[in-house]
Amino acid sequence: MYLVSLMFGIQSLSFDPLEHLETFSGCMSITRAEWEARRAAVPMDVVLSSDHDILSDVGYANMLHQVLRLRPGSGKFTAPVCSTWVFMSRGSTGRSSQRPLGKQEYKSVQDANIMVARVVILLLLCEARKIWWMLEQPVNSLLERHPLFEAFLRLPSVHVRRLTTAMCWFGGRTRKPTWVYSSHPEVSEINNYADHSLIPENTAEMVVHYVDSSGKQRIKGGGDLKASQAYPRRFGKAVSKVRSKHAAKHRAQAAKFLRLAKKTPNVANCAPAMNAKWMKMANLEPIFNFLAK
Ligand SMILES: C[S@@+](CC[C@H](N)C(=O)[O-])C[C@H]1O[C@@H](n2cnc3c(N)ncnc32)[C@H](O)[C@@H]1O
Repeated sequence: MYLVSLMFGIQSLSFDPLEHLETFSGCMSITRAEWEARRAAVPMDVVLSSDHDILSDVGYANMLHQVLRLRPGSGKFTAPVCSTWVFMSRGSTGRSSQRPLGKQEYKSVQDANIMVARVVILLLLCEARKIWWMLEQPVNSLLERHPLFEAFLRLPSVHVRRLTTAMCWFGGRTRKPTWVYSSHPEVSEINNYADHSLIPENTAEMVVHYVDSSGKQRIKGGGDLKASQAYPRRFGKAVSKVRSKHAAKHRAQAAKFLRLAKKTPNVANCAPAMNAKWMKMANLEPIFNFLAK
């Protein structure tokens, strides 16, 4: 709440309504499809601007601002960096189901933990206005074991679905089995646009097996792994088509939800211990200082 009031307190910010926000947008397949559907959509990615870096004060403040511009019932797609959450990196990150936060003494691991905590707070804001959010990860990513994501899933008003799909069904070069977590059940309809006859190229090098200097068998990401992150255009179109189909219904649902929410006490906001834990895990102190300047 404090974060939101700080944002709304900045007089110079425009809150012109947005229909879609894609964070970690990479090649922007979803944003482009949203533009084709004539919806106001914003992509955010550190490759577009260093002011989009979710780990920086200005970058996270910018993301909060864009989320607060989203119309109730609109959409948000996010694909936080998966490299430290996938099984291939478990040897170096030390992540496991029992120890999802891994070796926090490594900066790359700790940055990825903070990144996910910050993403979850953005999802919480989306929930507060019934925005249809989707979060993509490769199948078997340990991100779902992040303590804040788990805490978010346990909130009484949050009902998350998980779609299993594969990028090759949308024209991707590699199979890329993928999970899409979502606030809305209509996520399953993305697979209505999948073409199961599409076969991935079997020349793609996703995983490399090797023996390290101590003679231990190891695996690491192959040369084609990074390129496989980019969504095929057809995937972006599938997401956008499902959104178009349900847009009016989602706006009406959101309006009803907000009318009810205004009459309901905010229990989560009255839990200081919970707020303190979230603040620490997402490293929000520097963001508060930045916004309060
Ligand atoms: C898993 S990829 C998503 C790729 C995207 N789905 C696509 O279709 O191209 C993660 C993206 O996060 C971006 N990224 C990495 N670190 C970031 C950061 N600190 N803040 C914002 N974006 C970041 C990368 O540039 C990359 O495009």
